Amino acid sequence: MKGLILAGGAGTRLRPITHTSAKQLVPIANKPILFYVVDDMAAAGIKDIGVVVSPESGREIATALGDGSQFGVELTFIPQAEPLGLAHCVRIASDFLGDDDFVMYLGDNMLQQKLRPLVDRFVAERTRPRELHDPESELPAAQILLAHVDDPRQFGVAEVNAQGGVVRLVEKPADPPSDLALTGVYIFDKRIHAAVNAIQPSARGELEITDAIQWLIDAGFPVMHEVLEGWWIDTGKKDPLLHCNRLVLDTIVARIDGDLDAESRVEGRVVIEAGAVLRASVVRGPAVIGAGTKLTDTYVGPYTAIGANCELRDAEIEHSVVLERSRIIGVHHIHDSLLGREVEVVRSGDRPKATRLMLGDHSRADLE
Ligand code: G1P
Repeated sequence: MKGLILAGGAGTRLRPITHTSAKQLVPIANKPILFYVVDDMAAAGIKDIGVVVSPESGREIATALGDGSQFGVELTFIPQAEPLGLAHCVRIASDFLGDDDFVMYLGDNMLQQKLRPLVDRFVAERTRPRELHDPESELPAAQILLAHVDDPRQFGVAEVNAQGGVVRLVEKPADPPSDLALTGVYIFDKRIHAAVNAIQPSARGELEITDAIQWLIDAGFPVMHEVLEGWWIDTGKKDPLLHCNRLVLDTIVARIDGDLDAESRVEGRVVIEAGAVLRASVVRGPAVIGAGTKLTDTYVGPYTAIGANCELRDAEIEHSVVLERSRIIGVHHIHDSLLGREVEVVRSGDRPKATRLMLGDHSRADLE
């Protein structure tokens, strides 16, 4: 079983963060989303992984992942010149994939459920003893993972019949046949290659994996499905990203490796990385404070992840994600916020008293 991680998407809904950085590398609890994906594959026994990257994000993603040895896997980077769809990614990965079965995982998706049981179920179904006359076409060609969602119109949607078989898949339907969305995790055998070569681009000009799976169904090949247990988040927007950060912070194991003075306090589930320094500050978990970060006269409240080498002085922040090397000085009540790298939010006290902004393209400031 091989792995194929799709990390080419442009991340337009996370601008301005994604003007300078790949959305798959935005951290959740101070660890890039993509690292969770690779870890999950490695834990499922998948060691040979292709990563589809775009011209914009390729170098940054390759630098972050390296050769895969930090995860115990081997990585092959596959450049996609244009974002022509998920099925197009399978087309361009065909040399890497060969005739092997593979798990395809969208690099901005996070699942609570582990991959391993899903992979095991697919393998067990394909290898279980059968009648001698069973043709190969009876073997499952794919396994999809579905989740109940509030607004299925934003996703690929599955229609499942009374016997539990998948009968129809539609991409972003105006009139959804069910509330079962296709999540970003799929398992395929080699028959998917014929499917991705047979389909035509959709109305949005992309080769849709949803259409390729529909092609398998129409060809009479069995498509298994599983309805997800636990949460699933497509992290490509700020609020889902903060939500995911909350869910992951709820699972961290408290650890204090940094330096606290006598006037500082941590409460609850908190990680303070080595080299972090707290002076007269309070961190109320769940929260993580990155290595080398300095908090002075500061309160960090629940569901906050502060990246490495930040400086917070006379600040109060909660339910937020702050990336590396940012500074927050003299500012209180920062909630529900996502700050990129080397961002400065300061109260200088300069006259005239005013709000002075220098925001990048597609930035957003919501003043108190
Ligand atoms: C893609 C798939 C869609 C699936 C979704 C999951 O959508 O086309 O079927 O439900 O990922 O995140 P996209 O992110 O390209 O809009």
